Amino acid sequence: MRKPMMAGNWKMNNNWAESVVLAQQLSNRYDERWEDVEVVLCPPAIDIKAVYSVLEFDRREEVVKVGGQNCHWEASGAFTGEISIPMLQAVGATHCIIGHSERRGYFGETDMDVNKKVKALLAAHMTPIVCCGESLGVRDSGDYIEFITKQVSAAFAGLEPAEVKKCVVAYEPIWAIGTGRTATPEQAEEACGAIRASIAEEFGADTADAIRILYGGSMKPANVEGLIAMEDIDGGLIGGAALKADDFVKLVEACL
Ligand code: 13P
Repeated sequence: MRKPMMAGNWKMNNNWAESVVLAQQLSNRYDERWEDVEVVLCPPAIDIKAVYSVLEFDRREEVVKVGGQNCHWEASGAFTGEISIPMLQAVGATHCIIGHSERRGYFGETDMDVNKKVKALLAAHMTPIVCCGESLGVRDSGDYIEFITKQVSAAFAGLEPAEVKKCVVAYEPIWAIGTGRTATPEQAEEACGAIRASIAEEFGADTADAIRILYGGSMKPANVEGLIAMEDIDGGLIGGAALKADDFVKLVEACL
């Protein structure tokens, strides 16, 4: 049985004080059943410490984890504006989103960068949440399954099956991100199932059975049930709905 994951990607929203308010609202709504879900909050890097402090004060940090939205693969050095993995760990982060389509599209992140980051995170015993997903153009071309599985394969290049098992994949079709246009459960399942099948082929059935695959793209309380019910969808990576405590709590509870 794979433990479901509900991860909030706050993107470039909320200053540290606003992040504290949201973290406190979530912490106040916590209930013991959340232990059956891996709940992860990924605020802007500069807010992680404040969010972690709220969770730690309320003794939630074992259940509600915090993560980065990006990292550099080097531990330190002359990389102006970048954040290293040891820096993320020093403020309590255990997870990190890697290769989000916004990083790839706006900041030129390549499959090779993603692969280096995944390896560096695993070496530091952090959980990479590796994003993949096609644009509308690729979807309309009909080659989207090949496109997605190639992204995943490139992200995991050179890894051992035991390492792949520790990662999480997030399938986020770009046309569904922030658009209100969600993939149907069938569309999302087709992609997530294909990702699992390609992992089975490359790293073995055991690895494919163990790895969590999330769906992301306009997931919200109104559509979560159908998506989560799908065999190969183990949770969600949430943008907009993760910024509202009520909505995010409903998404976490939909995994129970
Ligand atoms: P939305 O939930 O706002 O569509 O964003 C999804 C996403 O990109 C999460 O990483």
